[in-house]
Parts: sequence; structure tokens; C-alpha cells
Amino acid sequence: MVKPRVYVTRQIFPDALDLIEKHAELELWPEDEPPSAEELKAALSEVDGAIINVMDRIDESLLAAAPKLRVLSQVAVGLDNVDLVEATKREIMVGYTPGVLAKSTADLAFALLLAVARRVVESDKWVREGNWKISHHPMFWLGSEVNGSTLGILGMGGIGLETAKRGLGFDMKVIYHSRTRKPELEKKYGFKYVSLKRIFTHSDFLSVHVPLTPETNKFIGEKLLKTMKQSAILVNLARGGVVDTDALHKALTKGWISGAGLDVFDPEPVPSDHPILGLDNVVVLPHIGSASNQSRREMHLLAARNLISGLNGERLEECANPEVYKSLGI
Ligand code: DGY
Repeated sequence: MVKPRVYVTRQIFPDALDLIEKHAELELWPEDEPPSAEELKAALSEVDGAIINVMDRIDESLLAAAPKLRVLSQVAVGLDNVDLVEATKREIMVGYTPGVLAKSTADLAFALLLAVARRVVESDKWVREGNWKISHHPMFWLGSEVNGSTLGILGMGGIGLETAKRGLGFDMKVIYHSRTRKPELEKKYGFKYVSLKRIFTHSDFLSVHVPLTPETNKFIGEKLLKTMKQSAILVNLARGGVVDTDALHKALTKGWISGAGLDVFDPEPVPSDHPILGLDNVVVLPHIGSASNQSRREMHLLAARNLISGLNGERLEECANPEVYKSLGI
């Protein structure tokens, strides 16, 4: 029997590749840099399925040039790089990897939150530069108290929930704002639902967990940043585009807020001469929220299973466009 053909746009864990190879003829993009738009289009024009990544733009013209494509399997929970409506129209199933990355991403949200609050990166740099001349000074390196403060969660999805739970471990009061209110979580964990206005005005730490959509694009701009506490710290592990980068720079330099922890940036990668990188009250990481060995391996294996199910014409373990099942009759 002829095996289906699949394209994998980036190196992934070997056991995920092995799993795919049992079911399909596999072609793996060999570089660390992603394929260009033209290279991706050419590769997908010939295959039945693909494992894709957050930097691979899957738009209408690419899909139109890929007549055999039956399944796209994204190695991420965010899907802002994929035209889901168009994929559904073309009866292409789109897999993704929620759940398996929520805890590791929430761990990193806390790493960022604590790093900015207690000036971890800034003081480490100071030590390495040979500035630690006085053994201990009662007034040096003062930061923000995390315990007992208010943690605001904007977007109570899987990662938002795990971040909120970690806040409880630090004796924080957790408030949240989300598209849908979650009374069961309020009851179970004591989280408090608040208005959009209030989450900005009342959070000591505001952790952003909303997807990037046309509605959330540059959503956190000057207007909202100005309503935050001057002592507040903004943490973003969602997508850089949710925050207006220029407005954030203004907020950080003019003292509208006290700091930011950013795992994502607009644009990515951040240019090395970007003015935000010159600020001491910011920690910037290279989009590594889910980058633990365990989470990444689980993401790759889940993406491989999604791909194989799609190639077999079966429902996916995690499907981002389940409405496609109706037209596929499965
Ligand atoms: C996601 O899952 O959306 C992350 O940003 C990619 O690791």
C-alpha cells in the first residue's frame, strides 16, 4: 500500500518522528531557520499532511496550492498563524497541542513574575560585572513583595488556570477576567471574577493568557496600561501582538507600570537594538514557555498522533476545527 506523504517543518523529538514514519513517507525540513513562505508552499503542495509550527504562516494562498492536504498538525496551543476558517472550508483537519504544555508554561510565567519582582536577572548581571563590593546593604536591591499581592489572570484557559493555581501557592489573591466566567473554578479555588477595567486597575501582577486574534491585536495599549498601578508588573506568555510594544515601552519608561516579564514579543525575534532591551525593569525570554524536555516531547508526540489520526480519516485527539468533522462525515 502506498503510504501518505507528510512534511515536518522543524526538527522534533526522534520518537515522534519514528511514530510518523510507521504510517507515512516523511520529509523533514533540515534547518533551524523555518522554511520561507515559498519553500513551505512548495512543500505542502505535494503532501497529505504536515506537522507545523507557530512561525509557519498557513494562509489562504498556501492552502489553495495544497490540494492533497488532509491534516495540519500544529505543535502549539496558539493558532494565530493558521487560517482556520479556510482550512475548514477545504475540509482540512487542524490538530493542536493544548493541555500538555499548560503546567510548564505556567511555571515559566512564575519564573518571569519572580524574576522581575525580585530583580533576579538585573542583580545577577550586576554581580557578574564585578559590582558586588559591599557584602550586604540594607537598602540595596529592593524589589516587590510577591506573597500577599494580587495576581490578575487575563484569560482563564488551561495556562491561565495553572498560573492562577501557582499564585495560590504564593499566598496571592487571584482575580481573573475571561471571555467566559468559570464559576466552578471560583468555587474550587476562590478565584474572583472581575471586570476588564478592574483587572487592570487592581492587579499587582497581570499575567496575560489570551490568544492573538483580530480582536486582541494590540489590545493592551496606552489606554489600558495607564490604568494600571504604578507598582504593577505585566507578564506576557501569550503572544507579543496582544500588547502594543511601543505603548509598553512608554509605560515602562514613564513609570506607568514598574516592570514587565515577556516570553513573547512583537516582532519575534526581537531586534537586538530594540529600546525595550535597554531597560533594567524588563526580562525578555525567547518564546520558551513550553520548552521543558517533558512538555516539548509530549507536544511532539501528541502532534504526531493527531497527524496520524487525520491521515487515517479519523477524528483527532485534539482538533482546533471540529466543525470539519461534519463535512467529512466522521
Ligand atoms: C504555544 O503553544 O502556542 C506556544 O507559544 C508555542 O510553544
